[in-house]
Amino acid sequence: MKLLVYGAGVTGSQLAARMHEAGHDASLLARGERLAALRRHGVRFAEEDSPTVRQVPVPVVEHPAGGYDLVAVCVRTHQVDAVLESLVGVEGDVLFLLNWAAGPQPLGAVIGHERVLLGFPTDGGTMDDDVVRYRAANFLTRRVAMPIGEPDGRTTPRLERIVRALRTAGINAKAEPRMDAWLRTHAAFSEPLGQAAHAAGGPVALADDRDAVRSMLRLMRQNLAALATPPVPRGFAALRTLPEGLLVALLRRFLRSPTAVQSGLSDTSPATAAELQRLAEQIRAGTRTR
Ligand SMILES: NC(=O)c1ccc[n+]([C@@H]2O[C@H](COP(=O)([O-])OP(=O)(O)OC[C@H]3O[C@@H](n4cnc5c(N)ncnc54)[C@H](OP(=O)(O)O)[C@@H]3O)[C@@H](O)[C@H]2O)c1
Repeated sequence: MKLLVYGAGVTGSQLAARMHEAGHDASLLARGERLAALRRHGVRFAEEDSPTVRQVPVPVVEHPAGGYDLVAVCVRTHQVDAVLESLVGVEGDVLFLLNWAAGPQPLGAVIGHERVLLGFPTDGGTMDDDVVRYRAANFLTRRVAMPIGEPDGRTTPRLERIVRALRTAGINAKAEPRMDAWLRTHAAFSEPLGQAAHAAGGPVALADDRDAVRSMLRLMRQNLAALATPPVPRGFAALRTLPEGLLVALLRRFLRSPTAVQSGLSDTSPATAAELQRLAEQIRAGTRTR
């Protein structure tokens, strides 16, 4: 597969390196200092705090060049608009692998509706200078598949091809027939979670503040209640039906867990704040149109 990974941060770098190692014709689009670092030594990555850093010589580009079988967009929500403009004249299907609660319409309106696929990356991690530190897989994360879907939910030959190609690189991808609802459900939950963790100064500080966790849960419930469809996965419905006290206790326990502490919830970067802001706007706009 001829693949362009657009965005050389945590998720894009991992995707490009894995696909390159699996023998695909993968290149990685970067800018600024990241571009210079990648040109010097390729993608460098390490498991969590391990001192062992691997280097993968993925070809790096500054602009899309020619056509691709697939362009995977791995940028933050608020960075998508600029990317769309640059993909107008570039041939190929485009898979948006990111937090997105505005549906496929605004994406297709710029690049062509027939080109759009939606998905969400499950290979998380953090950036440590120019080293991508990815989370070690555990029993739970191995069971979480990377969902990818057509906007209309069909299982098409191109969707099957993409899932197969990702699997050749050891990525646990799966076709998701309700991808837009999946992304909106995820945003309904993760945006209040991210905002509350950010405001508190991290997940553990948030766990210590029972009232803040209760307010966050109420926002999640409001968001879930405003969805046009039942939540996907259905398990998220429990956030509306289980007793508030029980959920607050479970959320506080989760916020103190290594999974939460090592996740993006501890990330106080301007990019994270800007992404959460844009996601909140998308959720509000979705609520207003119903
Ligand atoms: N990291 C995780 O653990 C994780 C887990 C699940 C989901 N996600 C989601 O996945 C998406 C991507 O996250 P991420 O962690 O990979 O973000 P990230 O580390 O911030 O990477 C985004 C990269 O894209 C680059 N970029 C943005 N606009 C660009 C443009 N116009 N041209 C060239 N490069 C551009 C950024 O460059 P600059 O730095 O110069 O802006 C940055 O290198 C987000 O929606 C995030 O919420 C992340």
